[in-house]
Amino acid sequence: MILQCAQGVIISLLIAAISFSQIVQANPSADVPPSHLSPAHLRLLKYETKELFLHAWDSYMNYGFPADEVTPISCQPYGPDFFDLDDTVRNDAMGNTSSTILDNLDSLIILEEWDRLSVVLDYLEGTPDLFNQNTIIQVFESTIRSLGGLMSSHLLLETLRDDPQSRASEVECIKKYDGFLLELALDLGYRLIPAFKTTTQMPVPRINLSKGVKGVPARLQKETCTAGAASPALEFTLLSKLSGDLIFENYTQQTFWKLWSSKSPLNLLPMTLDPLSSLWKDSTTGIGASVDSFYEYAAKMSILFDDKDMWNVFKTSYKALLTHSLYEPLGTVNSGGAIFSNIDVNSGRLASVWLDSLGAFWSGLQVLTGQVRDAVRTHMIYLKIWNTYDSIPERLDFVNRHSETGRPIQLEWYPLRPEFIESTYYLYRATRDPMYLQIGERVLELLQTKFKQRCGFSGFQNVLTGELQDRMETFVMSETLKYLYLLFDAEDKVLLHTNLMDNKNWVFSTEAHPLWYDKRKTVPTIKKKLEDRRINNENSIRSSLLDRITAKFNMYGSLSDNITIAQKAPHLYPNYYTTGDQENVVKVDPYEERFNQCEVSPFSTGPFTSSGYYTLKNLFSSNAIYGNVLKRPKHLGPHKDIELNENFYNRFSLVQNPLECERLPTTELSDVVLGNINFMSSIQISKLPLMKPKGEKHEYDLWIPKMAFSRLKLEKLEVDKIDTMNNRITKEYIESFFIEKSDPLFTIENGTTIVSDVKVDSTSVLRVLQVNGVDVDPRGLIWTSPYLGETLKYTSRNRVVLEGMVVENILSWW
Ligand SMILES: *[C@@H]1O[C@H](CO)[C@@H](O)[C@H](O)[C@H]1NC(C)=O
Ligand SMILES: *[C@@H]1O[C@H](CO)[C@@H](O)[C@H](O)[C@H]1NC(C)=O
Ligand SMILES: *[C@@H]1O[C@H](CO)[C@@H](O)[C@H](O)[C@H]1NC(C)=O
Ligand SMILES: *[C@@H]1O[C@H](CO)[C@@H](O)[C@H](O)[C@H]1NC(C)=O
Ligand SMILES: *[C@@H]1O[C@H](CO)[C@@H](O)[C@H](O)[C@H]1NC(C)=O
Repeated sequence: MILQCAQGVIISLLIAAISFSQIVQANPSADVPPSHLSPAHLRLLKYETKELFLHAWDSYMNYGFPADEVTPISCQPYGPDFFDLDDTVRNDAMGNTSSTILDNLDSLIILEEWDRLSVVLDYLEGTPDLFNQNTIIQVFESTIRSLGGLMSSHLLLETLRDDPQSRASEVECIKKYDGFLLELALDLGYRLIPAFKTTTQMPVPRINLSKGVKGVPARLQKETCTAGAASPALEFTLLSKLSGDLIFENYTQQTFWKLWSSKSPLNLLPMTLDPLSSLWKDSTTGIGASVDSFYEYAAKMSILFDDKDMWNVFKTSYKALLTHSLYEPLGTVNSGGAIFSNIDVNSGRLASVWLDSLGAFWSGLQVLTGQVRDAVRTHMIYLKIWNTYDSIPERLDFVNRHSETGRPIQLEWYPLRPEFIESTYYLYRATRDPMYLQIGERVLELLQTKFKQRCGFSGFQNVLTGELQDRMETFVMSETLKYLYLLFDAEDKVLLHTNLMDNKNWVFSTEAHPLWYDKRKTVPTIKKKLEDRRINNENSIRSSLLDRITAKFNMYGSLSDNITIAQKAPHLYPNYYTTGDQENVVKVDPYEERFNQCEVSPFSTGPFTSSGYYTLKNLFSSNAIYGNVLKRPKHLGPHKDIELNENFYNRFSLVQNPLECERLPTTELSDVVLGNINFMSSIQISKLPLMKPKGEKHEYDLWIPKMAFSRLKLEKLEVDKIDTMNNRITKEYIESFFIEKSDPLFTIENGTTIVSDVKVDSTSVLRVLQVNGVDVDPRGLIWTSPYLGETLKYTSRNRVVLEGMVVENILSWW
């Protein structure tokens, strides 16, 4: 028997997916086509992805251009609704500025589609008034799509033009590229930056491209989200670095740091605020919509601008999320699918049980920041969702409170968002595990068979019924198809994967635009350049654009003083407090260690011989735990578990190492907060790497001098239950904690031992799995010392008693 999953749910799912006996008996080399995920096969997948991109691009150029988008089913140009300003879902990303082009110039460069590129470069060069539009757009959306797209293409074109190694330097449109995309970017930047000039330093969300803030009705400016306010700092700081006009950096960085200094005592930022009153409008946070790119851009700005403060923001936030937001039901603790849930920023408690489609980006960011093990686990949840819905619904409850009758899906559309495939790309680059290619192949197949339309690609309007949308947002090409194409580039042939990009601290923007900045180069001031160009272009079609940006530059950019970013130095809560001179204790923050090591191989087998994915414990726990939510809509046909694709399984699972599912635990899990949660981030958690007096090593142990003010994840061990380590708890084991039953239990108060009659439940024992989000190693113990005023109780054998139960793995140091 190979599959030992205890849960009937899991087994029936597996049987539904593929025949059981086939898994067991298949010979790994016999009937598997040798081409499966071979280099030649991957080249084919890459080629097919490019074909899809070109289909969408050509449809846009034939039927949509110069509007912002093309509608994929009806083949019509599509732009803002000039009559209904309140249709912000439609209007926010469309300024009547040919957004599809702006968002995809760099895609054309990456695909080396020079003829198509040349056509649109000519168009942009001849359209200096591109942004002089009487339209209202959202500042964040046009920053990431248009401003980022223009700067990225500018950087790529300059590199291709100037790098002697570049294979494209002889292409005509590249040879003659003179930097005009940066001028368009500056023009757009000057139009957007007034949104940040508020008295509160919090930006209003929208701007009238030709008339500024005044051209936007007040009702559209009432609310902005944390991601929308904070993240433009990345593109705008880069625009300052590339142009020499510091105004962009000044305003957007002030906003970023002001937001960060408004975090809760738990180091969490809520999702929405009122920019005019500068007040938070809610007290919830998470990793998805409205706050996602805050974390992403803290990490990416730290890379792009070599900014240590930004790195601290990311680290502090990540630790806070591990502590409060990481949701691991039994059966997934430390392995299996993990969810970062929405929580209250003040209490850390679960605030809602939905996951959103945008949150699928998180595992990509975890890879980028070195948290590969965590990344595999968060990605796994989205894989299960994809298996069920052939997509990621915009918002779904991961706990279906109404079980059979309830609807787990809250928002039922899927506009072909890129986040799941983006994370798959990051995970593949980090692990080179073929599972991630297999996932890509399935996504490609769905794009080809289900989502492809006459003029592009349609996502689901309703994943439950299969109804499609007649809209193709610009990110379908600029992100979804781009990441898929890059995923299949296992041979590193695409420009971005070649040595052309060596020595560049480049990152993908949140819209998949590669951006970089070389701080060794002196900051260029384009003032002189602009003057020269104005003289040379005096009568050219571009003179109006040059006049405009030169005037703005003279207004702001001539400032000679360095701008100080007032609130930049954030107050970071130290994770320690001084404990006196404890011998044998080295103060190490176990969280910090996560960032000190480079996790490159979370799996136990090497690439391409087999998939390490099958060595993951609890690979199928989530199928059972979330079985209520993962209900495949009828119109999609039979369930497809990508990880159980028969060919792939036979080829990559290694029959010698058969798929084993651990039993799901049956113990109870609870979360206990001791003391005031607001002081939590100031308690010290250390490792004990030195010798105990008796000479035993403490390398797995934790030292927590003050248990008060901590948050514990507890597992309740009872006879005959299966614990999170896959053991059945025996009577003997529980009894071992109560051998000396006659021993009086006692408490320690004010440093004095007081015999008391505390009653302890002798049929169960508690185990601490996490303290303040820090995992307790199953081999280790937690040491603490009775602290003055602490209300903990201790047994005569120095174990802590909590909630009337003895704790298995906390011991008093004395
Ligand atoms: C949209 O842009 C086009 C140029 O591409 C222009 O002709 C048209 O007038 C604009 N529409 C509006 C309503 O401003
Ligand atoms: C932009 O602002 C101008 C001036 O206030 C206004 O007349 C125009 O209607 C605004 N545009 C839109 C699309 O509302
Ligand atoms: C920088 O921004 C602050 C407000 O955020 C503003 O008061 C100041 O004038 C700006 N400085 C420059 C040089 O733009
Ligand atoms: C501005 O900053 C640069 C780099 O930090 C420094 O070299 C220069 O002296 C500063 N200029 C002024 C006016 O403070
Ligand atoms: C512990 O100290 C507090 C205040 O210092 C006092 O009120 C309390 O009575 C003391 N308890 C014992 C058992 O001495």
